[in-house]
Amino acid sequence: MAQATDIAGLAATCHSCHGIDGASVGPSMPSIGGQNENYLKQVMLEQKHDKRYSSIMGRLLRTYSDEEIALMAQYFAAKPWVPAAVESEMRMVNRGRQLAQKTCQRCHGATGERIVEGTPRLAGQWPGYLAIESTKYTDPTFNRNKPSERMAERVCNLAAEDIQAVVHFLGTRK
Ligand code: HEC
Ligand code: HEC
Repeated sequence: MAQATDIAGLAATCHSCHGIDGASVGPSMPSIGGQNENYLKQVMLEQKHDKRYSSIMGRLLRTYSDEEIALMAQYFAAKPWVPAAVESEMRMVNRGRQLAQKTCQRCHGATGERIVEGTPRLAGQWPGYLAIESTKYTDPTFNRNKPSERMAERVCNLAAEDIQAVVHFLGTRK
């Protein structure tokens, strides 16, 4: 079992992309500090074992043991969640709010704040990243390990502009 100090050392290699303590500063890079621990762990294990599509993470995580991944999930989940620095646009927010109530609220809460076992916090996540992830569900050719079939049913029919509005609304919540 690795020591706590080792985990901080391992986690330091994540800062270059995910920001200090997992608070991302890039629009398409997800914040992981303060995210749901179960979600972080599940995603990383799936990426490592090729059960979830990723461009970078799968390769990177192959050098960590499953136990180290679980400890890093715990480490980042305990950091404060820093909402994305995105200016909200009233028109997009209003349209996104309606869409979110209709299509996302049941599972993610009215503002994306709701966390249940295995679901990520969406409120305050970078809209650019939320858009990339949500768009995977609308692409019929993207069948490589779709993360949630339950979610796919609801999201797959949304138009590109609807996705932009809904992720703008969710990403600009605090
Ligand atoms: C070279 C840049 C880079 C580094 C370094 C990096 N990541 Fe990532 N991370 C990404 C990218 C890009 C994604 C989006 C998935 C993908 O395409 O790989 C991602 C996604 C994730 C996700 C999924 C987040 C979500 O909300 O779905 C987690 C969790 C994660 N990374 C954890 C880590 C941890 C822990 C480390 C350090 C061990 C780390 N990352 C290091 C680039 C990086
Ligand atoms: C039926 C329940 C359900 C509904 C409705 C739903 N989701 Fe999800 N969503 C989930 C679950 C479960 C996950 C976690 C799945 C996973 O990534 O492992 C998730 C994950 C996500 C993720 C993260 C995906 C990733 O790989 O990082 C995003 C982004 C997301 N949902 C956006 C939305 C948006 C936007 C809506 C509304 C348009 C929506 N969801 C509606 C259940 C739902």
